[in-house]
Amino acid sequence: MSGYEAAFRVWRGDVEGGGLADFRVEVNEGEVVLDIVHRIQATQAPDLAVRWNCKAGKCGSCSAEVNGRPRLLCMTRMSTFARDEVITLTPLRAFPVVRDLVTDVSFNYAKARSVPAFVPPEGVGAGEYRMAQEDVNRSQEFRKCIECFLCQDVCHVVRDHEENKAAFAGPRFLMRIAELDMHPLDAAASAGVDRKASAQDEHGLGYCNITKCCTEVCPEGIRITDNALIPLKERAADRKYDPLVWLGSKIRRRNA
Ligand code: SF4
Ligand code: F3S
Ligand code: FES
Repeated sequence: MSGYEAAFRVWRGDVEGGGLADFRVEVNEGEVVLDIVHRIQATQAPDLAVRWNCKAGKCGSCSAEVNGRPRLLCMTRMSTFARDEVITLTPLRAFPVVRDLVTDVSFNYAKARSVPAFVPPEGVGAGEYRMAQEDVNRSQEFRKCIECFLCQDVCHVVRDHEENKAAFAGPRFLMRIAELDMHPLDAAASAGVDRKASAQDEHGLGYCNITKCCTEVCPEGIRITDNALIPLKERAADRKYDPLVWLGSKIRRRNA
């Protein structure tokens, strides 16, 4: 493929407001959208803000929206688009804009902090943890997460509903709770943490109606909905309808 010129519309602005700016940019064989953004910076708009680090799909920082779909700019090949297609770049819609293509994703860090960490089992020293390979394999998939927050951006629960953010941790962090909940060595219960109850009551598991948009945009191909969210919902429901759990919570409530 020889070089050609593509038409781009890039959102420019800040928290006060902004709009789409038109650019015509040279494209060469094998390039990705981030290459084009860098070329716009180099030749036409040196102050265009974009966040990136690795250019290898591993740091999760170049997240933005390409033609309205959340994507990593460094992993989106220009060959995905027709040469005459106008390509629109906008910042992640679910988070406040800082400038141009850069958003403030601190919502996600706050949610990360709100999930209690793994609690090591008592009496087992570092290096002595043992678990079945099957359990290792199950959580391995979730640990591929690069924290790009594309899943958080696309989920309809918060995408256009700022008011849901306080009550909903989003797919990435519900997946983290699921991972900890299925960890055979996690002793959170001994520290008074009920991961299933907190997923429901504090992190909004019930808001998820398994639309699977999160899974569709995940650049790591993690099956967030099928392998984390649905099993967590099932386990949380079992807990709720378990007669012993029900009785226990009644007694606790009465005592309180
Ligand atoms: Fe990104 Fe996938 Fe992790 Fe979500 S689960 S933050 S889409 S890597
Ligand atoms: Fe949202 Fe994913 Fe559930 S997109 S609704 S968290 S399946
Ligand atoms: Fe690191 Fe794109 S620059 S994921």
